[in-house]
Amino acid sequence: MIKITVFASGRGSNLQAIIDAVSSGYLPAEICLVVSDREGAEALSRADRAGITNKFIDPKSFEEQADFEAELLAELRGVGVELVVLAGFMRILSADFVGEFSNKIINIHPSLLPAFKGLEAQKQAVEYGVRYSGCTVHFVDRGIDTGPIILQAVVEVKEDDSVEDLAARILEQEHRIYPRAIKLIAEDRVKIEGGRVIIEGG
Ligand code: GRF
Repeated sequence: MIKITVFASGRGSNLQAIIDAVSSGYLPAEICLVVSDREGAEALSRADRAGITNKFIDPKSFEEQADFEAELLAELRGVGVELVVLAGFMRILSADFVGEFSNKIINIHPSLLPAFKGLEAQKQAVEYGVRYSGCTVHFVDRGIDTGPIILQAVVEVKEDDSVEDLAARILEQEHRIYPRAIKLIAEDRVKIEGGRVIIEGG
């Protein structure tokens, strides 16, 4: 049973998909802690409802990002976390923090990376006029949305799609592939070789 922590800043629908996958027995994981950097984030209420320890850690109460991250690290060490799952966490973690949890932090991004990195990926896709977009689960490295790719799912972009239409279609796939990626890691089937992910047993 892998011990995970989820960092989320807002709505928390990916967190919910992970909670549901654990409670259905699909995902062999224990969510030891949910952390938010935003007070009153819906993600925290979702954790509450599921009986999961959760904490709002206020970045503004620290003088520097490094102090905020030191607090995060202390929390993670306290519960013996094996995997940090970023689910709509709207804060960039420093290279030092990422180094502390090397290949143990994953993120979900609402595009087919390496296309449309950064903010508002769904809007970027609609504006560019791509025919397909999707979502990507990847390891977090020192760059932004650049780490080794674990899983992706493709969705069609329709000509009359609004950004919201596309985001909703992508979100459905996020909820499917994020628990699946964590399950693969929990089963120790995910290896990184030469910057690429190899999934053992297919
Ligand atoms: C998702 O679109 C995810 O891909 C992005 O942030 C959004 C989080 O949504 N990183 P939610 O908070 O999980 O509902």
